[in-house]
Amino acid sequence: MDILTEHTERFLAALAPEHDEVQAEMATYAANHGFPIVGPEAGSVLQFLASLSGGTRLFEFGSGFGYSATWFAKGMADDAELFLTEHDPDELDMARDFFDRAGLADQTTFLEGDALELVETVDGEFDLVLFDHQKHRYAEAFDIVKDRVSVGGVVVADNMMRGPIDFGTLVESVEGTPNALDATNADTRGIAAYLDAVRADPRFETIVLPVGNGLAVSSRVE
Ligand SMILES: C[S@@+](CC[C@H](N)C(=O)[O-])C[C@H]1O[C@@H](n2cnc3c(N)ncnc32)[C@H](O)[C@@H]1O
Repeated sequence: MDILTEHTERFLAALAPEHDEVQAEMATYAANHGFPIVGPEAGSVLQFLASLSGGTRLFEFGSGFGYSATWFAKGMADDAELFLTEHDPDELDMARDFFDRAGLADQTTFLEGDALELVETVDGEFDLVLFDHQKHRYAEAFDIVKDRVSVGGVVVADNMMRGPIDFGTLVESVEGTPNALDATNADTRGIAAYLDAVRADPRFETIVLPVGNGLAVSSRVE
């Protein structure tokens, strides 16, 4: 890691908000088990986006044990609705337990199975959407949910810059290098396809924030 990157990470970490008690437990569990959570720097962005947008309905694709959703919840009204999805029943059980103790369980629906199928079982629009499931299925998930994002709503996708992706190849791809993705992995191709899809939709304005693992933040403007 070069010195600028190291200083940036330390700077953002030092300025990130403190975990509450339940979040601290979640973060300790994640650290001890090598489980990939968004972390407090990106988490505080989720809280900020929730609060700024005034969103009252969240749908997450890939919730794990619910850490990212706790950050959204901090920025949402007390009666906001949260829909968590996870195909691992043990993680979903942990989410139920953590949410119970965080006082969030009553407003949360815990959905077990494939998020791309589960989203079809929930009616209505969503003000906040998180993609943090299989990277090669982000574009497919966007296609399924995009018409159901409220105007003024926000879609966030994690792992634009880090995670199971080859970031150097992704950079070449977005710069327009021909065949840049030919020899890379499905996750990297998935992130590239997602960025293509969301940026091609004129109803969404997209920026990428180099916080945590890199967040693509897309606001539905029409
Ligand atoms: C990176 S973790 C999510 C972390 C979580 N967003 C957080 O920051 O607290 C990804 C999770 O998505 C789950 N997952 C992956 N693909 C899924 C799918 N299609 N449907 C439901 N869950 C999925 C995995 O089991 C894993 O627990």
